[in-house]
Amino acid sequence: MNLFDCSPERDEMERLCAEIEAHNRRYYLEDAPLISDQEFDVLLKRLQDLEALHPEWKRADSPTQRVGGGLTERFQTLPHKRPMLSLDNTYDEVDLNAFFVRTEKALGLLPQVVCEPKIDGVAISLVYQNGILVQALTRGNGTEGDDVTLNVKTIQRVPLRLSGTDFPHELEVRGEIYMPKDAFERLNQSLEQHLIEKGLSAEERSEQLYKNPRNTASGSLKLQDSAEVARRGLDAFIYYWASEQGRKNSHWENLEQLEAWGFPIPPLLKKANTLEEVLAQAKTIEQRRSSLPFDIDGMVLKVNDLNQQQELGFTAKSPRWAIAFKFEAEQAFTRLLSIEVQVGRTGAITPVANLSPVLLAGTTVKRASIHNADFIRELDLRPGDLVRVEKGGDIIPKITANDYSSRPSHSLPFLFPDQCPECGSELRQNPGEAIRYCSNPFTCPPQLLGKLTHFVGRKAMDIQALGEKTLDLFMNELGVRRISDLYQLNPTDVLALEGFQEKSVSNIMQGLEQSKQVSFDRVLFALGIRHVGETVAKTLARHFGSLDALAQASEMDLIQVEEIGAVIAQSLISFFADPLQQEELQKLKEAGLQFSLDLSSIKVHKGPLSGMQVVVSGSFSRWSREEIIRLVEELGAKSSGSVGPKTNLVLAGEAMGPAKRAKAESLGIPILSEQEFTEKYLA
Ligand code: IVH
Repeated sequence: MNLFDCSPERDEMERLCAEIEAHNRRYYLEDAPLISDQEFDVLLKRLQDLEALHPEWKRADSPTQRVGGGLTERFQTLPHKRPMLSLDNTYDEVDLNAFFVRTEKALGLLPQVVCEPKIDGVAISLVYQNGILVQALTRGNGTEGDDVTLNVKTIQRVPLRLSGTDFPHELEVRGEIYMPKDAFERLNQSLEQHLIEKGLSAEERSEQLYKNPRNTASGSLKLQDSAEVARRGLDAFIYYWASEQGRKNSHWENLEQLEAWGFPIPPLLKKANTLEEVLAQAKTIEQRRSSLPFDIDGMVLKVNDLNQQQELGFTAKSPRWAIAFKFEAEQAFTRLLSIEVQVGRTGAITPVANLSPVLLAGTTVKRASIHNADFIRELDLRPGDLVRVEKGGDIIPKITANDYSSRPSHSLPFLFPDQCPECGSELRQNPGEAIRYCSNPFTCPPQLLGKLTHFVGRKAMDIQALGEKTLDLFMNELGVRRISDLYQLNPTDVLALEGFQEKSVSNIMQGLEQSKQVSFDRVLFALGIRHVGETVAKTLARHFGSLDALAQASEMDLIQVEEIGAVIAQSLISFFADPLQQEELQKLKEAGLQFSLDLSSIKVHKGPLSGMQVVVSGSFSRWSREEIIRLVEELGAKSSGSVGPKTNLVLAGEAMGPAKRAKAESLGIPILSEQEFTEKYLA
């Protein structure tokens, strides 16, 4: 026997694990904690300290993993042991009936089915070896998924170790990770608070808020910091036993067994023998929908008998023994209190509806987006109207109908303003577009702030000392009215502002000074010309070499450049034709910004893979995905995500997708391993 096996510290670690687990169970599952949070933290801290001291004794199912702390640098793509399929969808009783007719025909009898709520989350595959959770993979492309084990271990109700002893040596289960509605609301409330403090307008805030619990669950699973995942309050339901060993004869019994081992299985499960019983259960679930603590988007039917399931089999995409019956989006009627008109950073005027608060899909809705003036006209929306709101994929619900019969008698049509609510300038509308814009991009405050913020952004001039709040302050207190004014700032004036010290002022001045070295392509992007994004700016800078040459280019000259179309060309022509812009550009030039490209700095991409299209798949031991793609590009190739007839070469890392490999093989495309690639091209 090893001497350390009877170390008192090891005993203490074992004891702490058991004790903490018991407290976790009482807290999370039984809702009856025995000790305070502080007392709990003391136990956990002690275990964490001991584990740091003796990592060799740390248990694979230690409760410390629930609080996270581990980092995943990049999520490894790993193959699924069994393909992760999707479900066939139906939206009405006719389709549902067809499912029964189909299965009855194939089996010779009407099968019993199990009805389950369809949880609106992210599919997950969990693998247990000897009862210990060893792997959690996302669905990915169904054949291979991302390894999110560390993050999934922080989810309290996912068992790290199964209860009992009668589990198979290897067990794979499938389920759904979701974010409960209250956790989602909490997360958004704290984000909103943070954005308010940053000084963002309601419209800007709503753009940045998390859209819905499902996307947020999916994003959370991919966070690199597992401690942050732990704080997000994700939860899970397990609804399928995927491995073969030890399975029972029916899906129902499988779920019972999974529950006995400690898995959270969905509520509202019901066996049904006829279409009528199925429809009745669908109704029950739909009625409960808004009061459930998690989002659902339908009901799933699964043939109960596993022999029958086997007989029905699978199509390439989904099991023939299951089907999803999807519910309509949730709707509610409420009064439209007022229509507010906001100005975005691009000058786009967006109307927003203020609503009488109404409960919709479990959250209180007070605002809805109204796309544009045409939409208001089409639905003849007027303050006081009773409108139907609907939740789509977005957090901001949409108005989808107007109940004219309950309109107050004195109401008048809504008059869309013809002046900008921020600066009073005329509004203009581009032919063929429904959106109206403020015609004054120069001094209209939200537009100017948008321009300035874009200008200092990381991918533009990268002046980190200047953030939105500071820029807003400069606009209000120092009369900054255009980008060039930033380069005229007087440090003494800035220092006189509240909250600024020598150090912060010098950082700002230094940032501005350094920005004069930023290359021309980024300056061009920073100017914020409509339709000129990062890539277009780069292309234009390389092609024309200087701002003067670009400004003189005709529409014909412009559209001859690869990837430059008529829209971009037009936008550039009108930008350079504007006398105010010309004056501004002159000032920026005088300030010392780079208005031409140092041609010697351009790297010409020519190399052994010149002109080839290369697909990189799987993971590599020497490089991250980004690195190997960059490498391939440096060798002159274009990298692409999918194998096709134009592919010249496939670089196959560890665990490359079998489907991709098969396709490459069938097209006769050469496949190189990491080692072969290294030897051939990097030696
Ligand atoms: S069964 C072979 N049951 O819906 C097993 N899926 O649209 C296939 N989903 O990919 C899945 N609730 O992510 C099943 N009770 C439930 C479900 C469910 C939600 C998800 C799952 C699936 C998607 C298909």
